[in-house]
Amino acid sequence: MLTYYIQTYGCQMNYSDTERMETYLSALGFKKNSNMKKADLIVFNTCSIRQRAEDRVLGQMVRMGDLKKNNKNLIVVVTGCMVRTPSSKYSEKRDNLFNTIKELDVAIKNDELPLLAKLIREVKPNLEIKEIPEETLESYFQIDPTHSSHKSNSQAFIAISNGCDKFCTYCIVPFSRGREKSRPMEQILREAENAVKNGAKEIILIGQTVNSYGLSTYDKAEKTFDYLKKEPFVYLLEELDKLSEIGLERVRFTSSHPKDMSDDLIDAMSRLKTQMPYLHLPVQAGENEVLKRMNRPYTVEQYKEIIRKLREKIPGISITTDIIMGFCGETDEEFETTCKFFEEMEFEHAFLSQYSNRKGTYASKKMKDNVPQKVKHARWHKLNNTLKKTSNKALERFVGKTLKVLVEGQEKDEWFGRSEHYKEVRFKSKKDLLGQIVKVKIDSHDDFRLYGKIAK
Ligand code: 5AD
Ligand code: SF4
Repeated sequence: MLTYYIQTYGCQMNYSDTERMETYLSALGFKKNSNMKKADLIVFNTCSIRQRAEDRVLGQMVRMGDLKKNNKNLIVVVTGCMVRTPSSKYSEKRDNLFNTIKELDVAIKNDELPLLAKLIREVKPNLEIKEIPEETLESYFQIDPTHSSHKSNSQAFIAISNGCDKFCTYCIVPFSRGREKSRPMEQILREAENAVKNGAKEIILIGQTVNSYGLSTYDKAEKTFDYLKKEPFVYLLEELDKLSEIGLERVRFTSSHPKDMSDDLIDAMSRLKTQMPYLHLPVQAGENEVLKRMNRPYTVEQYKEIIRKLREKIPGISITTDIIMGFCGETDEEFETTCKFFEEMEFEHAFLSQYSNRKGTYASKKMKDNVPQKVKHARWHKLNNTLKKTSNKALERFVGKTLKVLVEGQEKDEWFGRSEHYKEVRFKSKKDLLGQIVKVKIDSHDDFRLYGKIAK
């Protein structure tokens, strides 16, 4: 029997796409193989958000050359954000990756998944793969993901949109994933209901800017959501909330964009019982001139106002963010302003990235990547120290409290999971608690985690 192995890099969207690919490959007759060396088809689901992510994938290709020597029938596929043109090595118009990766057989973007069988046949016409009605699949969102990325069924990551319309000047996503398209509401609700029936206690809605669900240029032109009398994302959260009747306890979403953080959405977050006191809201910089250069369509003052409303309506809400340091032209003063803003906002966690020039973006074409690597690195360290301070302060408030923790896994003799505020909590127990929501009394913390004991 033919087997496949998928190596996934990058964000949750890529993991979700991998789960969709698993369903598709098994329909073609492939079986999952946990040993890359023995597989007939190896897929790299790639990320290109920063140069380092791409370098990691390219590093793996040397191994593919060796594996191909041993297995003449091996097919190597690259998918995800590094790909631009769906093609096989025999296609007339091939993706640029074929010029740099000689081991490559097929290149395909994630949302072109229905074309994969055709491209595999171009490379290996005699391979016995099952006929599936790929041409009849209108979109890759119709393919149900396996939800296999997690050890238990208690969590389901559900993609609600793909692509991005925001065009931040530094970001490759609008080019790699294309324009934003929202997935039909019924499809999402059906997948969510099935996941809950299958044991999901938590649903995590994913997309590049989830809170612009239904509002993209494409969605508006298609008028898909015109029948709704309210913001599509708010409606979606309300519908998901009803699944609490069949066992759903938590709904999270990531990432959000400040521009679409409406009052109605904040209100829904405060009143729906499945909504958690947690929001990841990337700000990217805490200085207005830098935000302008980044094409982030809000000011520091507007962002602060959103946070004020959230904290007023949802007391104790935990807010996390993303920051880029060393973006084109960032001066010491501008960076200092971002640091002060970070402390003032008391962000409880953050992904801190040093700016990486991405070919094809506006910044790459029109701006100078003029902050030296050393300075980017020093700025990262400085802000990371601030983050440790704000994180410690945020964790301190939970010591002595009993929290509900959804158990996600075990490492050595310790269980770990997330509290309602999305804090990682670790504790010991001899029982198998995977996938359960348990009460843990917190007794200590380090920079980023809470530790405690099972509460009676
Ligand atoms: N360089 C550094 N960080 C980036 N991000 C996106 N593009 C870049 C880039 N070119 C960061 C942003 C985004 C997160 C997913 O990755 O902070 O929110
Ligand atoms: Fe990239 Fe900006 Fe879109 Fe986020 S909102 S995916 S940073 S372009």
